[in-house]
Formats: sequence, structure tokens, C-alpha cells
Amino acid sequence: MACGGRHGLILGIETSCDETGAAVVTTDGRVLGEALASQAELHASWGGVVPLLAKGEHAKAIDGVVGEALAQAGAVEGGLSAVAVTVGPGLGLCLQVGVRKARAIARAHQLPLIAVHHMEAHALVARMGAPGVTFPFLTLLISGGHNLLLLARGVGDYVELGTTLDDALGEAYDKTARLMGLDLSRGGGPAVEALARDGDPKRFRFSVPMRSSKTCDFSYAGLKTAVRLAIDANIPDAETRPPGALSAEERQTRADLAASFQNVAVAHLEDRTARAIDTALAMAPAVSSLVVAGGVAANQVVRARLEAVAAGRGLRMVCPPARLCTDNGVMVAWAGAERYLLGLVDPPPAPSEPDDIRVDIRPRWPLGECHDTRAAGKRSRQTRDVFPSLTSLTLQGAQAAEQSV
Ligand code: KG4
Ligand code: ZN
Repeated sequence: MACGGRHGLILGIETSCDETGAAVVTTDGRVLGEALASQAELHASWGGVVPLLAKGEHAKAIDGVVGEALAQAGAVEGGLSAVAVTVGPGLGLCLQVGVRKARAIARAHQLPLIAVHHMEAHALVARMGAPGVTFPFLTLLISGGHNLLLLARGVGDYVELGTTLDDALGEAYDKTARLMGLDLSRGGGPAVEALARDGDPKRFRFSVPMRSSKTCDFSYAGLKTAVRLAIDANIPDAETRPPGALSAEERQTRADLAASFQNVAVAHLEDRTARAIDTALAMAPAVSSLVVAGGVAANQVVRARLEAVAAGRGLRMVCPPARLCTDNGVMVAWAGAERYLLGLVDPPPAPSEPDDIRVDIRPRWPLGECHDTRAAGKRSRQTRDVFPSLTSLTLQGAQAAEQSV
């Protein structure tokens, strides 16, 4: 039987990209069960995530992953308090698999549903358990699709201080790994990080992006191109040569390139984060923590160097454990728990709801409202099909609640 005690018991489901994740957590922050099915190996041979293939893998894995999380927790569906699921941002085809599964469970047992923003879940999981991070805090979210600096003022309430003008850092790591012909079966980022340990970070002098810019925005496209040109010039055909076909000298050059790329990529994070700390403290002097989360936050060099930046400005850096930085079900369940405690839930689906109903998914869904409107104007962000930000929706909800009192 469910062992959540008097606390709420939340099932979380994550299928936004290439990991099928599920977990059961209590509202006081205990993880009772968690399961994950990764597709990294499948997509490695295609050089990136193929949405249709990913959808098929989620569909195959979802029942088993959810069943495993519940079994570990000693819980049954009917004993849950609510079901939380990532509704965006992410790949539409993939999001649908998780949302349909969550709706089916919620409908069968008439449980409340909780719509989770994937990037908010990355940030909030740092608040799970003791000692916990309190609002307001600054957060740097670094993943395969996003590079965000945000002032987190509360659940659903974020001010965007900076974003990427082109690529995300995880994307740059993945691309670098691919161009170097590394084994991608455990992900491009971990492969580059491991290789960089044997390299000289000063051998290739790539320039740090946007050094003279006064914003907190990021740009990784130029560095990505510089690394590609350096690989082409020093290790021709590195991407397609069979493993073992590199000379000892080429292998050392490859390690030096990995280390030099990482050194500059992290220097850019340091610059922008330092600037964002100053901005955040001016806006909210009570900020005392920097939360670094998202897949790239699993990287040890990133953690060590950002910790020094935070400490130098009087902040404590908090990173979730590495397994909770990359996509997982626990972060979704915990974001659900935070929302459940605040009453931010949707009613159960009608018992008569058909399985093929059009579900609410938000592939392009900003988290915060932009702090600097001048900077926002310069960003090339496309606005077509973008859902209103989570923060604007939270504000609307609060205003509606006030009016109805
Ligand atoms: O958050 P995440 O699991 O999925 C998205 O929401 O995108 O982040 C995945 C990204 C990938 O680009 C992956 O290469 C990168 O995080 N990543 C890393 C490391 N582990 C994962 N990048 C650098 N070093 C790592 N150790
Ligand atoms: Zn993610």
C-alpha cells in the first residue's frame, strides 16, 4: 500500500525529449520510487533526437516506467494524491505520450492533474528535501535546448534576465562530440567532459563570446563554428573515421580541443552569471542562492567554476545531484508536489473523456517574462506558436482569484 503517510503522494511523468521518466514523491520531499528509460543510444546513430522514433520509444516504455516507479514506492494508482506531467516545452509528439498516460491514470481514479513546465521542474528540484532553497533565488538553467538566467520569485513566477541568442550550451557540447567522432551512446556532453580531462585547455585560444555585451544573454553559435573549423583543420574527417583510426598525436589534439572548447564555454557561463548575480541582487537583495540545473549542470568543471563565481559574490551555489540534473521523473513529480501544496491543480478529466481527445501540450512555452525589454527586442526569438509564459499565466490566475473573492 502507498507509504506516503499523511503527506500527499505525487506521480510525475516526463517525456519531453529522449528520456521516459516517472517517479513517486511525497509532498515533504521524499522520493519513494523512480524509473527512467533512456533513448540516447538509439538516437546516437542518427546524430540527434529523431522525434518520430522518440515518440515510438516513449510509447513502448511508458507503461513499464510508470509501473516500476509505483512498484518501488509500494503505491497503487488509486492511492495517489495527484498526477503531474510535463506539458512543455519539448517535442510535441513526445509530450503527447506522457500527457495521455497521465490523463488516463487521472481519469480512471478521478485524480487532479498538474501541468508542469519542464524548465521550472529543472529549477524547483533544487528545493526538494533539506536544507532546501528559499525564494527568491537566481537560477541558471543549462540544457540541450535552453540557456536561461532567471530570478525565481516564487512557484510560477520568474523574471528572465538572460537567454541564448542562438544555441544552447548542451547543443554545443553535443555538436562538438559528434564532430569529434566520440561515442554518443551516453550523451555528447559527458563524452566531451571525459575527453577534456586529458587535454590542455589553453592550447586552442577560442574567444569568449559577447565579452563586451552588457546583457546577461548567451551566444554559443560562434564558438561552435570556431571549434568545427579547428577540428577540420587538425583532425580531418574526425566525425567519420572509425574508432582507433586516429594517431596518438591526433588523439591528444582532440583532447586539447575538447578542453579548450569547455574552458571557453564555461568562461562565458561565468561572465554572464556574475553579471546576473549583480542584477538579481539589485532587484531582490534577499537572494542568497544560485541554483544551477539542467543536463549541463551534471558537468564537474561547470559546477566547480560557477561555485567560485557564486562564492565570490556571497551566494551559495546549489546543484541537484547529477542524476536529477539530466531529464528525469523526480523533478516533474517534485514540481507537481510544489504546485499541489499551493492548490495549483486542474480537475480530474471527465470519466467519459475519450482516449483520443486532443491534449493540452505546449512545445514552445517561455518560463519567465523578460526583465530588459531593450535586450528582448534584439533577440531573434520567433514568436509564432509560442504559448504565453508560465509567469504571465500565474499572474492571470492570481488576478482572477482576487476578483472572484
Ligand atoms: O536537461 P537535459 O537532460 O535535456 C534537455 O532538457 O535538453 O539536458 C541534456 C543536455 C545534452 O545536451 C547533454 O549533452 C548535456 O545536457 N549534458 C552535459 C553533461 N551531461 C549532460 N553537458 C556537459 N557535461 C555533462 N556532463
Ligand atoms: Zn531538460
